[in-house]
Amino acid sequence: MMSVRTVAGLDIGTERVACAVGELDENDHLQITGAGQAPSSDSVRDGVIVDLDGATEAVNRALEEAESISSWEIREVAVAISGTHVRGFPGRGTVNIEPEDDYTPGEVTRAAVDMAVETAQLIKLPRESTVMSTVPCGYTIDGFERLARPPVGLRAERLTADIYMVTADRTAVMNLEQVVRNSGRRVALVQAAATSGARAVLTRDEMEMGVIYADIGAGTTDMAIYHSGMLVHMAVIPIGGETITRDIQAIRIPRSDAEIIKRELVDVSLPATQGRKSLTVNTLGYRDKVPVTAEIVSEIAARRVAELFDLIGTEMKQTGLRLSDLPAGIVITGGGSRLSGITGAASRATGLPAVVGLPSGVEMSTALTGTPEFSVAVGLVLMAVEEARSKSRRGRSSLLGDIGKSFRGMFRKLK
Ligand SMILES: Nc1ncnc2c1ncn2[C@@H]1O[C@H](COP(=O)(O)OP(=O)(O)OP(=O)(O)O)[C@@H](O)[C@H]1O
Ligand SMILES: [Mg+2]
Repeated sequence: MMSVRTVAGLDIGTERVACAVGELDENDHLQITGAGQAPSSDSVRDGVIVDLDGATEAVNRALEEAESISSWEIREVAVAISGTHVRGFPGRGTVNIEPEDDYTPGEVTRAAVDMAVETAQLIKLPRESTVMSTVPCGYTIDGFERLARPPVGLRAERLTADIYMVTADRTAVMNLEQVVRNSGRRVALVQAAATSGARAVLTRDEMEMGVIYADIGAGTTDMAIYHSGMLVHMAVIPIGGETITRDIQAIRIPRSDAEIIKRELVDVSLPATQGRKSLTVNTLGYRDKVPVTAEIVSEIAARRVAELFDLIGTEMKQTGLRLSDLPAGIVITGGGSRLSGITGAASRATGLPAVVGLPSGVEMSTALTGTPEFSVAVGLVLMAVEEARSKSRRGRSSLLGDIGKSFRGMFRKLK
């Protein structure tokens, strides 16, 4: 029998639960073979689970759909956390390197590097927070700033490690894990939605050059900034596609009509040139029908989109990076990236080139996982597989043996 291991990436979003299934064959080749989705139906608010049973039901539906496509039973799930409680901040730790003698500085050892990174993590966190991930983002030794690789073997008096830490609200993480457990699966990994999606959407080159990633969902925009190949900033902004729909609703039309208008009539690139194009929609209460012109609703949507990208620009300024440090510009994904004119509006507000980014860089046998709504789900699969691989590299046993262990309990689904 063929030996295949699977892991699912699960993105429990404000509008939908999206699930992607990755299969690793015996040659360690990864392919995305299944996908599923289900509306989260008010069980998620602004990226945070607010109804355990409702979320569990949506997760089950998405997983079952994905299982029926990939034909493997999903036991292990990598899941994304979002909401404005997910925060990132830099940390810095310094250790002295024991000199060889009075005249000779000592060599930087692996242990010293680990110690510097650990010291950098010794930030006093608020009691309600828990660390999601810590990534090193540079090392400094006497005379050399921000080396990308750990300077093991070099002589120095002092070693400083810079890290970037992502934390989340403890109870939000616990509720997320509970939903996965309630669905009968094991949590293999919990990662911030921003960094997970970026993993599937951004290329190595973009991360090296400097880039802003923005996943515009329904309730939130998960953003991350990469420079020199490293995560330097992340944030969750409480504005998404749903915010825009609500803005349009405020002209006193029903929600469903506002959603249609947003998708079919709005163009946020240059609202004033939208002209006389219009759609006839219901008034609130459905007593009348009225024409709505593109110019008006595009103006409303463009204002919110400008606010969003202004906030993204403010986040960028916090990093100390300048526009010229981000030549790869801004890469937009998520369902909100489907809004007409979004890249033009992003460019105008930030002064950066903007493109829409889709999940890629992995073989996919389903079209669904190539859409902007699946960026996070696909990225989670990639991250889970990478983590399993690096675990097996650190360990002594064979690569596949170890992945087998960390993805244990995958069985062919009985049909
Ligand atoms: N063609 C379109 N034009 C404009 N907006 C669209 C279009 N298609 C989908 N959207 C919007 O995309 C949003 C949903 O995107 P997505 O599925 O990425 O959200 P989510 O992940 O569930 O939410 P969040 O990430 O905020 O928790 C909705 O607000 C929807 O209106
Ligand atoms: Mg989302």
